[in-house]
Amino acid sequence: EMSRFVNDLLSRMTFEEKIGQMSQIALNEPQEVSPDQLILKGQVGSFLFITDANEINRLQHIAVDRSRLHIPLIFGFDVIHGFRTIYPVPLALSASWDPTMVEHVQSMAAKEASAVGVDWTFAPMVDIARDPRWGRIMEGAGEDPYLGSKMAAAQVRGFQGDTLGSPNHILACVKHFAGYGAAEGGRDYDSSDISDEQLWNVYLPPFEAAVHAGAGSLMPAYMDLNGVPAAGNKFLLQDVLRDKWKFDGFVVSDWDAVFNLTTHGFASGPEDAAARAVNAGVDMEMTSHVYRDNLAKAVKDGLVKQSTIDESVRRILTTKYRLGLFSHPYSDPSQVAAQLVSPEQRDAARKAAERTAVLLRNEGGLLPLSKSLKSIAVIGPLADSKPDIMGSWSLAGHPADAVTVLEGIRKRFGADATVSWAKGVEIARGQPSIFDSQFPSPQPTLTTDAARDAEFAHAIDLIKQSQVAVLVLGEAQNMSGEAASRSTLTLPGRQEQLLEAAVATGKPIVLVLLNGRPLNITWASQHVPAILDAWYPGTEGGNAIADLLFGDANPGGKLPVSWPRSVGQVPIFYAHNNTQNTDAHDTRYWDGSSAPLYPFGYGLSYTSFKLDDLKLASSTVKSGSSLMVSINVQNTGSVAGDEVVQLYTHQRSGSSSRPVRELKGFRRITLKRGDKQTITLQLDTRDLGFWSPQTHHWSIEPGTFDLWVGTDSTATNHATFTVLPQ
Ligand code: IFM
Repeated sequence: EMSRFVNDLLSRMTFEEKIGQMSQIALNEPQEVSPDQLILKGQVGSFLFITDANEINRLQHIAVDRSRLHIPLIFGFDVIHGFRTIYPVPLALSASWDPTMVEHVQSMAAKEASAVGVDWTFAPMVDIARDPRWGRIMEGAGEDPYLGSKMAAAQVRGFQGDTLGSPNHILACVKHFAGYGAAEGGRDYDSSDISDEQLWNVYLPPFEAAVHAGAGSLMPAYMDLNGVPAAGNKFLLQDVLRDKWKFDGFVVSDWDAVFNLTTHGFASGPEDAAARAVNAGVDMEMTSHVYRDNLAKAVKDGLVKQSTIDESVRRILTTKYRLGLFSHPYSDPSQVAAQLVSPEQRDAARKAAERTAVLLRNEGGLLPLSKSLKSIAVIGPLADSKPDIMGSWSLAGHPADAVTVLEGIRKRFGADATVSWAKGVEIARGQPSIFDSQFPSPQPTLTTDAARDAEFAHAIDLIKQSQVAVLVLGEAQNMSGEAASRSTLTLPGRQEQLLEAAVATGKPIVLVLLNGRPLNITWASQHVPAILDAWYPGTEGGNAIADLLFGDANPGGKLPVSWPRSVGQVPIFYAHNNTQNTDAHDTRYWDGSSAPLYPFGYGLSYTSFKLDDLKLASSTVKSGSSLMVSINVQNTGSVAGDEVVQLYTHQRSGSSSRPVRELKGFRRITLKRGDKQTITLQLDTRDLGFWSPQTHHWSIEPGTFDLWVGTDSTATNHATFTVLPQ
C-alpha cells in the first residue's frame, strides 16, 4: 500500500515539486521568496531549526491544506543530547557503558522534541575520534568501534522506537559519513586520510550498526575522505551504504555541503555540484539551494537522469509515510508545556548525569565528602554557570532550567553549612560560534589585572576559611563542539594556576571537571587528591554532581577514550598494533612516557572490586558461534557500587596484524557491599572478524587468541582460546 501511495504521488508531481521535496531550508537564512510562498508552491520539503510548536503547525498547515499535493513537511533539529531538557553530552553517555540507559535518554529526548512537532534529529553522531584536539569528539562515543557501535545502535533505537512512526519518537540521522573524526591535526573540517584497513575496521562499524538498527536517514560528512568530499562520494553513499548495507532510508547533506563541493575544488560549479551530489546519493540538500537552482538544467544537460531524481524523491516520501506524517502531520500545542522539563525528564537527566561521571582519582578516600561538613568553598569559573553545565549543542535548552554545581551543593546544605563561592578566574574562548546555545557562556567582566588578581586572592581566601574546596574547572561550552578544535589540552586560561594555589593552601581539594574532551591534567593527577570528571552533564548536572560528591550516588562511569599526558602524545588509543619492540610500548618518547595518563575503560568507584576465576566454556570455538566467558566479581569495599566488566581479545597472527587488544564485550553491574556475582559474557566470534588489507574482505580468521577480562583496557585476568574453521 505504501509503495502504491508513494508511486501515485510521484506520478502526479511536477519536476519543481520533486526538487522541492529534495530541499531543506533554515528559516534564518535570507530567501528571495518567503517560506510561506515556497511551501505553497511545493518548493520545500523540510525545515530545520524551528522549535516553536505553533509555528511548526502553521507551516505544516500551509503544506497540508494549501499546497497542490498536500505533502507534509518534515521538521529537523539537532537533538543531540536532549531537546529542552539537556542530558549529558554523547561522549559522557558513552562513558556510562550502559546502552540501555543511553537508549532511554534518547527516547526521552525524542519525546520532548516530538511534543513540539520536531520529527527528525540529526543524531546520533557516531564518528570514532582518537584525537582530542578535535572539538567534536564530544559528540561521539569516543575511540572504540565496538563501544561506538553499541552506543550508535542504542541511540537509534532510543530516537526511533521500535519502528519508524512509533508515537513520541523521531527519525534518527546517523552522521557524519564517514571519517570526520580523523580530521588532520584534529582541525575541524580538515581532510581525512584513512587507509582501507582503518576505514573498515575502525570508522565504518558504528555506521553499519546504526544502519542495521534501522536508522532512517544519514548525513555525509563535510570533509573530503581520501580526496573525495563525502557529499559527492559514490564509494561511501552507493557502494557501501546502499549496495553493501542495503540502507533504505534517505540521505541529507550537511549544511551547504552540496554547494561546498565547489569550495573543495571538486565540482566545477553549482550545476556540477548538484549533479555529483545527487548522482552520488544525496537525496536532500540542506540549506544551499544548489538543487533548486540547478537540477532542472542538470537533467536537461544529461548530467542527471530523471530516474535518479525520482528515486531520491521516492525515498523521502517513503520516509515521510513511514513516520506517519501523511496521517498525523500536527502536534498538539496544548500538550507541550506539560512535556518540557517535566519531573520525569529531570529525573532521567539526573540519573544519566550520575551514571556518566568518571572518578579519576580519590586519594585517601577524600570522596565522598561528609554530609556534616560545616564549610565548603565552591570555586571556579564553571561552578555557577548555567550555559556551561549544558555544553555545546544545547540549542533548545534554557539555562534557567539548569542547576549549577554551586546550586546543587547549596540545596543539599540549606542553613547548616557555609557554602561560599568565587570564580577565582574567568575564561572565554574569544569567538562565540553559531553552534553554542542561544544563551552563550558569560563573557569576562574583570577587565584590569588588579581586578583579576583580587578575584584570584578572594577565591584562595575562601578556600583557606573552609574545611574543603570543590573546584569546578574545565572548558566553557563553546570550547568544545563544532568549530572548537584546540592545539593544546590544558585547562584554559589561568585555571591551572588557581588549582595550584588552591592545593598550596593545604586544604583538601576536590576537582570537578566540566569538559567535552580529554584534558591535560597531568599535574592535577599527581597533586589533587580527588578528581571527578563530570563532562558536560546537562540540566540536572549540579544536582547529580552533589549526589556524587556526598555519596548519594557512587561513580561508575569509565573513560570511552584514552587520556593523554600531553598533546604531544596525540593520537593515542589502546587498540594500536603490536611492534617488534613490545616491552617498550610505554617508552617511545625519550622525554616522557608514551603511556596514557588514564587508559581507555578506566574509572574508579567509592568501593572496590575483586575479579577472579576467569573461565572459558571451552578452549576452542567454531568460527560463527559463540564462547561463554565467565568471571567472579566481588564488591570488596564498604558501599554498594557499579563496575563495568570488560572483555578484550587479541588475535595472535593472521593475514594482517591485529591490535594488541580490542574490546569485544562489556557489562555494567551493580553490587551491594560484600556481594559476589558470576558474570557471564557471550563472546560472539563474528565480533572477531575483520577486514583484511591482504584479502580485501571481511572474515573471521581461525587462529589463537588472547583474552583478558577486567575493569579497564589494562585488564590482567588472561586466558587463550582457538577459533576453529567452521
Ligand atoms: O547536524 C549538523 C551537523 O552536525 C553540522 N552542521 C550543521 C548540521 C545541522 O545543524
